[in-house]
Amino acid sequence: MIDEIKIFSPATVANVSCGFDVLGFCLDTVGDEMIVRKTSEKGIRIIKIEGYDLPLETQKNVAGVAALALYDDAKPDYGFEIEIYKNIKPGSGIGSSSASASGSIFAINELLGKPYNQTQLTNFAMKGEALASGSEHADNIAPGIFGGFTLVKSTSPLEVLQLPTPYDLYATIIHPQIEVKTSEARAILPKEIPMKNAITQWANVGSLVHALHTNDYELISKSLNDVVVEPYRSQLIPHFKDVKNETINAGALGCGISGSGPSIFALSKGIENAKNVENAMKMVYSKTPIDFNTYVSKINTDGVKIL
Ligand code: HSE
Repeated sequence: MIDEIKIFSPATVANVSCGFDVLGFCLDTVGDEMIVRKTSEKGIRIIKIEGYDLPLETQKNVAGVAALALYDDAKPDYGFEIEIYKNIKPGSGIGSSSASASGSIFAINELLGKPYNQTQLTNFAMKGEALASGSEHADNIAPGIFGGFTLVKSTSPLEVLQLPTPYDLYATIIHPQIEVKTSEARAILPKEIPMKNAITQWANVGSLVHALHTNDYELISKSLNDVVVEPYRSQLIPHFKDVKNETINAGALGCGISGSGPSIFALSKGIENAKNVENAMKMVYSKTPIDFNTYVSKINTDGVKIL
């Protein structure tokens, strides 16, 4: 049995416009790396974090809290130490905390000889996500663990459906360097929504799921519409409407807020379109004083990977 493992834990896009708290997909070109090794000393220790200033205390770190949830269940007679090399900026809206939580859980499961299935791993990782955002949702965790597109049918008990990924689907992301706290982006949402909007929204979720199953890019495009959350959260992201208009003009199938923002995602058919969309996004933010990063990525159907 191996004693040490190095993994890549990818960034993810939650909500996918119409699927607030239930839909998500996994990115390929951006993510964190982690090294996890067995120790004779029992317990979970985070011994190194590079990239961003995050707490080393196990109980205060999302990777540590998630790892502890699994560790307390598995009760091995040895421990684990974790090194985290973060590339995903915390608070970016592309699943930084969930990448840490999913990565530590995935790696420890491998070192234990894979006793847990993907749904159980998602459940443990959600404990870390709860520390970061104050709510146990799995729409960033599930695509990281399962890969591709996922739908969280229920969190209690946890039930995750893995959806098919059309081969030519690419994501473009722009991350404006402003801060949007997930807890605040959740707090501004209404507690109740009009029936008319609910009908539009669940029709879009259903048709997006159908479109993924049938490789119907036109239907994907028509389904990427959010009448419930985006009208509120878009106010927290400067120039969101301009980015959306320009990406659609540049050929994107659709565009929306990635998770709770501030990142904005677009989906496109083919890498050329995705790159044109990236240029369109850059053009909008280049005219502002706000710094930004962009990424173009094929949808990652593997999820967390061993390096
Ligand atoms: N579904 C979550 C939200 C994702 O939009 O608040 C961010 O953690």
